Amino acid sequence: MSERIITRNPNEICKLRKAGEVSARILCEVAAYVRPGITTKEIDDYARELFAREKCGNAFFGYGGYPGQLCISVNEEVVHGIGGPKVICDGDIVSLDAGAIVNGWYGDNALTVAVGHVSEEARRLLAVTEEALYRGIAQAKQGNNLADVCGAIEDFVKPFGFGIVRDYVGHGVGRHLHEDPAVPNFRPHYRLPHLKRGMILAIEPMITLGTWRVKVLDDQWTAVTADGSWAAHFEHTVAVGAHGGEILTERPRIALPEQLGITL
Ligand code: MF3
Ligand code: CO
Repeated sequence: MSERIITRNPNEICKLRKAGEVSARILCEVAAYVRPGITTKEIDDYARELFAREKCGNAFFGYGGYPGQLCISVNEEVVHGIGGPKVICDGDIVSLDAGAIVNGWYGDNALTVAVGHVSEEARRLLAVTEEALYRGIAQAKQGNNLADVCGAIEDFVKPFGFGIVRDYVGHGVGRHLHEDPAVPNFRPHYRLPHLKRGMILAIEPMITLGTWRVKVLDDQWTAVTADGSWAAHFEHTVAVGAHGGEILTERPRIALPEQLGITL
C-alpha cells in the first residue's frame, strides 16, 4: 500500500530543503510584517515582493485558480483565506500559509500569529496546535505507520476539547504541491501506509476552539468554522527519517506556552 508513495534520496531531499528554506524565510518574514491596522491585501502584496526577491516560484498562486500569493486566514477562517480589504485588529489571530518552488521542488508551511493582546483561550489554541504539529513530526519515522503520525496529533489535541478539522488534511509534497499520501490530523477509518525513509510529508493540523465542521465562503476558497469559533493552523514539510521527521521548513517555534504566558 505504501508502494505508490515516492521516496526521495539524500540528493533530492537536499533540493527539497532548499525549497523548504525559502518557504520558511518567506513565511517568517510575512509573519513579522503582520500588525494591527494593515489589510490582508497589504500582507499579500508584501509576500509578492518576497517571492520576487527570492526569485522562486509560488506554489499557491494559480493553483486550482487560487488568486493569492499565500493564504491569510483570520480568526474563524481556517484555511485558504485570500488577501483583501479586511483590516487586521489587535487581538486577532492570523494564519499564514505559503509555499515556494525552487528548481521544480516544492516547500509548504504555515503558522498562526497572535496580533497584540490575544485572549488566553486563543493563545492556548495556538500553543496546542503548534505542539500537535511537533507531536506528529516526532512520529514520522521509518517503521511507523502513517496512522502513528495522525494518531499522535489526535491524541494530543483531544483532551483539550478542541475541534480537529476533517475536511482539510496534510499531504505528500515534492515535485507537486499535493502528492500521495493524504495526512489526516486524526486516525481515519481506512488503512494508512507504512512509512519509509525519504517519504516527504506536509503535516498541517488545523484546530478550532469549537466544532470541527467548516464551510466554504462564496469566494469558493475561504474555509471558516461552521460555528464561528476561531481556528489555528501550523504546518511543516518533513522528510521521514530514521528516528523522526526531519523538518525541511525549519523555523523558530512561535507559540511556546511560556512565551504565551500559559500552561498547557
Ligand atoms: N497548505 C495548503 C494545502 O496544502 C495550501 C494550499 S493553498 C492553494 O492545501 F491555494 F494552493 F490551494
Ligand atoms: Co499544505
